[in-house]
Amino acid sequence: MKEEILKGKKVILKNLEEMDFQRIFKWLSDPDVVNLLFYQYYPPTIQKMKEEVGKEHVSKHDFEFVIIDLKTNLHVGWAGIYDVDRINKNGEIRFFIGEKKFWGKGLATECVSLLRDYGFAELNLHRLYGGANIENVGSLKIFKKLGFSEEGISKEGFFKDGKYYDLVKFGLINKL
Ligand SMILES: CC(C)(COP(=O)(O)OP(=O)(O)OC[C@H]1O[C@@H](n2cnc3c(N)ncnc32)[C@H](O)[C@@H]1OP(=O)(O)O)[C@@H](O)C(=O)NCCC(=O)NCCS
Repeated sequence: MKEEILKGKKVILKNLEEMDFQRIFKWLSDPDVVNLLFYQYYPPTIQKMKEEVGKEHVSKHDFEFVIIDLKTNLHVGWAGIYDVDRINKNGEIRFFIGEKKFWGKGLATECVSLLRDYGFAELNLHRLYGGANIENVGSLKIFKKLGFSEEGISKEGFFKDGKYYDLVKFGLINKL
């Protein structure tokens, strides 16, 4: 039974379990879905993916969740706060809606707002940060809408499909 961790109006974030990796594997194997990520990763097998992506699932520095769409009760993506640094009190927000027909419905925006509030109020972090491919218009909008400041651009920060892309970095300080 999945534990409900965070609940909004459109999504619930629940704990990520072993059985969720099958779906994540399917999404990470879909070129349309990984197209705008700032890395290209097609896992060769579920086992390999679990060793790489899934290691965060068991780390105490990572708070990783599945995203459930409230209307349909379907698992549509995953997200979390990663690399939590307890000394400097910061962590990185990452999010991923893998089910394409659920794009553009405000799910990622609500998910990131829940993670932001959780990071500040529950994990007591001072700073949250994140980054996106400069061509990932949806992700850039989400960070900006939720109050993150653009902190800079890593020019040609990553290489994918024969091309270098800029990486936009965002940060938000807990003012509470
Ligand atoms: C990018 C992504 C997170 C957007 O999720 P989403 O749930 O569709 O986003 P939302 O519905 O909350 O949309 C937020 C805003 O971005 C816009 N938007 C979303 N996807 C867009 C796209 N592909 N092109 C242009 N605008 C887009 C929305 O219209 C909305 O704009 P508004 O604030 O003016 O209304 C999702 O497509 C995704 O996970 N893609 C695959 C993996 C990925 O790129 N993850 C992000 C890594 S940083």
